Amino acid sequence: MPRVVVLVGMMGSGKTTVGRRVADKLGYTFIDTDDLVVARAGKSVREVFEHDGEATFRALESQALAEALATPVDAVVAAAGGCVLSAENRALMTTASATVLWLDADVASLTARTARSPHRPLLDGDPTARLTQLDSQRRSLYAEVADERIDTDGLTLDDVVQRVVSYA
Ligand code: S3P
Repeated sequence: MPRVVVLVGMMGSGKTTVGRRVADKLGYTFIDTDDLVVARAGKSVREVFEHDGEATFRALESQALAEALATPVDAVVAAAGGCVLSAENRALMTTASATVLWLDADVASLTARTARSPHRPLLDGDPTARLTQLDSQRRSLYAEVADERIDTDGLTLDDVVQRVVSYA
């Protein structure tokens, strides 16, 4: 049975950066559900949202999550921020024999981190307002699937990586 660590949390919580580092440290494969969506759709996340709509994106995201959780090798999975929206996805995460870790961060940190990369269509307009709204809608969903919550505010990247490795 492969060992699988799933990172959940809001956009900008560090899932991809932390996930890559943890995978390197543990010698696991790193899988990002957004990358699987892009590969399957043949276009960027923004293009899927703009050309096909959010519902199509969410369907691709669910397929990507299922594919990631079915990894035959040890893996760290960065589950894109919206993966928890579907009850089916949440059930999949909690029933898979994976360790699910929630990278939590306050909205100011999320805003600062997401400002560096403009590829997230949901944050067009007023990112702080949007992140505040999404965070309050989703907190209970991240809590529902997570085995542990890691409060990343005040921690260095190395600290967060260590913390994740300690739960892996
Ligand atoms: C989204 C998160 C993004 C990406 C898309 C929508 C969300 O992934 O899937 O822009 O709904 O939270 P990251 O969480 O990796 O940024």
